[in-house]
Amino acid sequence: RRPAGAPDKSLARPVTKVGVVGAGLMAGQLALLFARRLGVPVVMTDLDQERLDRGVGYVHGEVDKLLAKGRVNPDQANRLKRQVTGSLTKDAFADADFVIEAVFERMDVKKQVFAEVEAVVPAEAVLATNTSSLSITEMAADLRHPERVVGFHFFNPVAVLPLLEIIRGERTDDAALATAFATAKQLKKSAVLCKDAPAFVVNRLLTLFMGEVLAAVEEGTEPEVADRAVAPLGLPMSPLMLLQLVGPAVALHVAETLHEAFPDRFGVSPQLRALVESGRTAVYGPDLTIDPEVRALFTGG
Ligand code: 3HC
Repeated sequence: RRPAGAPDKSLARPVTKVGVVGAGLMAGQLALLFARRLGVPVVMTDLDQERLDRGVGYVHGEVDKLLAKGRVNPDQANRLKRQVTGSLTKDAFADADFVIEAVFERMDVKKQVFAEVEAVVPAEAVLATNTSSLSITEMAADLRHPERVVGFHFFNPVAVLPLLEIIRGERTDDAALATAFATAKQLKKSAVLCKDAPAFVVNRLLTLFMGEVLAAVEEGTEPEVADRAVAPLGLPMSPLMLLQLVGPAVALHVAETLHEAFPDRFGVSPQLRALVESGRTAVYGPDLTIDPEVRALFTGG
């Protein structure tokens, strides 16, 4: 059955090569998923050779893990490694028909990336963004072909979580959207169409959960108790575990975007801000209690 709001699939264009902008953790997960599920070449770019090597190295390491688990055979593993390559210049996207960016969450950076990508890709290539919260319409606004931009928002860990939020910008056309849905199907993701509104749908809910757990801690509830209180709701992970998984900087960015858009409904937790300023990324220690220094940040103690 066609997902609600998806255009006719006959409008979808084939994807024969994928470009991934960025070589961070999210980008690496995306590169592997596209290579594995679409079976096409995937080229990653980043600003310097070191980051690029780390990104491609991550993918190759994940392929080795798949091999060790028996999820792929040695031939498939070698093929996957050959499929995912790195290039320092976006010229490598000259024959890519689907490019996804997973760079730093800043509108100006993403606009610049798309302008550079648009200069080299074929006329009909889809430009997708894995942004967590930024406006797709605004990101596309200065392009020659804003109709080819779609939001394609994955959830961590990308290989495991089935959900994909697809976002239609004001000028996204049916062909780009149909290509996005067809690609999602090939990736074996459950795609839902979301309006281009701050943080779309899922991150609004997660931000509320995280913010309210931190508020309860500030009011005096023990951090572990507050964090585990939502367990009966059936979330696979508690809000503060999720905070660690997605990274405090990303969580803060989403919270700030939501606060700016809906100041009456979303605050920015001072503890989240303090955590980001401290540079710490691990909330829980290996013994599954909150790290003592993070506890002090959260409780003001
Ligand atoms: N990266 C890659 N793979 C991972 C992983 C990670 N960080 N963590 C776990 N996995 C894989 C494991 O390798 C395992 O794969 P396998 O079946 O091939 O061996 C599989 O996930 C299951 O792992 P485990 O058996 O170790 O653990 P669990 O059954 O407890 O599942 C979990 C772990 C999948 C992470 C689960 O706890 C979960 O679904 N958590 C919720 C995650 C979530 O809500 N993410 C959304 C975050 S919001 C977001 O990303 C949006 C952004 O914009 C902020």
